[in-house]
Amino acid sequence: MVSTVLVTGGMGFIGRHLVSELLRHGYRVRVLDSLVEQVHQAGEPSRIDGAEYIIGDVRNADLCRKAVRGVDHVAHLAAEVGVGQSMYEIARYVGGNELATAVLLEALIEHPVKSIVVASSMSVYGEGRYRDADGRLHDQVRRRRDMIGTGRWDPRDDAGRRLEPVPTDEDKPVDLASIYALTKFAQERAVMIFGAAYDVPAVALRLFNVFGAGQALSNPYTGVLANFASRLASGQRPTVFEDGEQRRDFVHVEDVARAFRLALEAPSAAGQVINVGSGRSYSIREIAALLASAMGVADLQPEILGKARSGDIRHCFASTERARDLLGFTAEHRLETSLEPFVEWVRRETVVDRNGQMRSELERRGLVA
Ligand code: UD1
Repeated sequence: MVSTVLVTGGMGFIGRHLVSELLRHGYRVRVLDSLVEQVHQAGEPSRIDGAEYIIGDVRNADLCRKAVRGVDHVAHLAAEVGVGQSMYEIARYVGGNELATAVLLEALIEHPVKSIVVASSMSVYGEGRYRDADGRLHDQVRRRRDMIGTGRWDPRDDAGRRLEPVPTDEDKPVDLASIYALTKFAQERAVMIFGAAYDVPAVALRLFNVFGAGQALSNPYTGVLANFASRLASGQRPTVFEDGEQRRDFVHVEDVARAFRLALEAPSAAGQVINVGSGRSYSIREIAALLASAMGVADLQPEILGKARSGDIRHCFASTERARDLLGFTAEHRLETSLEPFVEWVRRETVVDRNGQMRSELERRGLVA
């Protein structure tokens, strides 16, 4: 019997790749998506042949009940996704992420499914894990505000020594530093609590920095590669916060889609939170240089702003062991080899550079300093 998966947010960046992945693997797919305008500024994305589409908000209980009817699994990706924006559009983020998840779960009480996988985020960690000069691990690092901006961007220990970032695993305690992170953690917990109470295998995937074709290039809150691509495509230098030495883990969207499928299928993963990253880290300065050269505009050197975005962490990259052990998942795409197809896709897109708008929205509220 063919299984049916409901993908909420199935017209978004990751959702669309997941829909294709599931169809390729013989699933029937239903999408529930409200086509958030900020994400779909270039117009409604084309529908993928073979999938069924319901357009509307997850917070609409009637629609949700209709969407879950007859489905066997749920992948819950519908969400508001901008960390910076979540610091001033607070009600929108709490509504779109927490309340929407609550409505979806209520619909699932009446219609139990075989598994539910929710898109969580590395943002729940706050700072990643660090090691000090004596080899001790630090799990609760926060940068001091008075140090940020003095050029001492890296977290330090009490003796003032720089801490070394190391891979972050799922046992690192969460440290919620933005409204976005708070809502992602609430989604994650709600799905886990629901899963335990109603005996529905539930998994939360903590996604690291996802990139690839389909990212909303004109949405300035979607991630650094999209920001830089829209700058470079408009002949502008990428703008880099801090000194550009902050490190992140970039994972390709097709790998992420595969991780979702594996999580939907893996009974051993029930009740677990799992990192989905590549396990490799790159500095933001490196990212700017790699992308500029892939786009053939290596002369567009990044502008280093020397200012930090409020709520930004310094370094975080994934420990990938749990994903390997529980899902048999390791990222297959490497950033270096994925940039060329990404750039080809960027060239076909109409890009509006809204980075300036993002900066002034944040600056006006004192969220860049
Ligand atoms: C954050 C979230 C992550 C979320 C992602 C997309 C945290 C720790 N993580 O990641 O869960 O999925 O946003 O919403 O909050 N940068 C620039 N110039 C730019 C844009 C970004 O220098 O134009 C820098 C940022 O200051 C940051 C790094 O690039 O240091 C990465 O930023 P971004 O891609 O926005 O995502 P994260 O903050 O890592």
